[in-house]
Amino acid sequence: MEKIVIEGGYPLKGTITIGGAKNSAVALIPAALLATGKSTIKNVPNITDRDALFQIVKLLNCDIKQNDKTIDIDTTKLENVLISEELSVKLRASYYFMGVLLGRYKHVEIYFPGGCNIGSRPIDLHLKGFKALGAKVSKRGHKYTITADELKGAEIKLDFASVGATINIMFAAVLAKGRTIIHNAAKEVEIINIVDFLNKMGAKISGAGSDTLIIDGVQELKGAQIEVIPDRIEAGTYMLIGALLGDNLKIEGIIPEHNQALLAKFNEMGVKYKLNKNSIILNKCDNLKATNVTTEVYPGFPTDLGQPMSVLMTQAKGVGVMEETIWENRVGHYPYLQRMGANIELDGLKATIKGKTELHGMEINATDLRGGAALIMAGLIANGKTTISDIGYILRGYENIINKLSNVGAKIKLEEI
Ligand code: UD1
Repeated sequence: MEKIVIEGGYPLKGTITIGGAKNSAVALIPAALLATGKSTIKNVPNITDRDALFQIVKLLNCDIKQNDKTIDIDTTKLENVLISEELSVKLRASYYFMGVLLGRYKHVEIYFPGGCNIGSRPIDLHLKGFKALGAKVSKRGHKYTITADELKGAEIKLDFASVGATINIMFAAVLAKGRTIIHNAAKEVEIINIVDFLNKMGAKISGAGSDTLIIDGVQELKGAQIEVIPDRIEAGTYMLIGALLGDNLKIEGIIPEHNQALLAKFNEMGVKYKLNKNSIILNKCDNLKATNVTTEVYPGFPTDLGQPMSVLMTQAKGVGVMEETIWENRVGHYPYLQRMGANIELDGLKATIKGKTELHGMEINATDLRGGAALIMAGLIANGKTTISDIGYILRGYENIINKLSNVGAKIKLEEI
């Protein structure tokens, strides 16, 4: 077991390079199994969620070759094997094998997925979609069996624009007979990346990035090449760190349009930054203004940046409100921020944050991936030493976070407990 130890208060200068998007990569890897033959995925981030997916892909008898951030997946010997509960619960995205294996074999048996404890995380919308395509779903304990004589295109209206349900239904529909239309589809940029991959494989999908996806089923998909887009959440997290501690800190390899909602808040708060085509340079600002933030589906303010953003809000003058609207439980980091000295009143999912407050280093626990990142940020600006336990959550989604931060001057290291 390891913990993260931070000595706070050091300015950060130099360059941080952003990796591939976790939320794209965890769908692109299963998507490769929809095709026959070899696919190549470039810019795959080095995170533990990736390693868990590799284990599943190997269990399904596919070959994986990895050369740094490029992976080749050969599905020639693919087998529809039961994915153990132990593997499924390692990450949320294991549910993408539902849509993929259902699409290819019309039958899948799989356990309920895992992931961060940020809410009840039901998959009813995914299952509704599979049923609309003609599948029968049964559940025994934590195990789902989903089966169909044939999958037929259908019109599906999602009750909520769920990212996971949109992708999973699309996976089942690409090899179905006829046309599927998903109304109220998620519009996240990762979906465009995944549709791009599927279309390169020979799928016929249009409307990616809008709220209506049209999928015309094809008989077969062939292996293709794709590059994972930059991680807008990793980028946003380091942009927030730059606003707190930057001394001309450069965040490189970003797509600024993907972080529009965060940049709009930076403008309101008075964050000092200079935007280039694929990078941003940030400087610490001592007189930030308070602002209110409500998390929304894309292109609104991302729920995944709500917790990191709340740390910046503790350093702004005045009263600001951070309201989470997507997940029921994305508030686990607040009690720790309070104990570190932040002035925060929590009412359900609404945090009223009064700044600016000094934070003091102490022993804390990561409660989830993004909450963990928020606590690293708090440790970086706090006086003295902060020790963070349960860091497995953080390593699931932020590649080389310790190196990326120490390379720009942060006093941060991993220590064995
Ligand atoms: C994805 C992202 C996650 C991000 C979230 C919202 C991945 C691997 N994770 O998660 O980082 O925070 O999008 O942008 O891409 N819901 C249902 N029934 C369902 C599915 C979802 O009620 O069948 C609800 C959820 O409980 C939640 C909301 O819809 O309240 C959003 O979920 P969804 O968009 O599906 O999130 P994920 O795809 O799991």
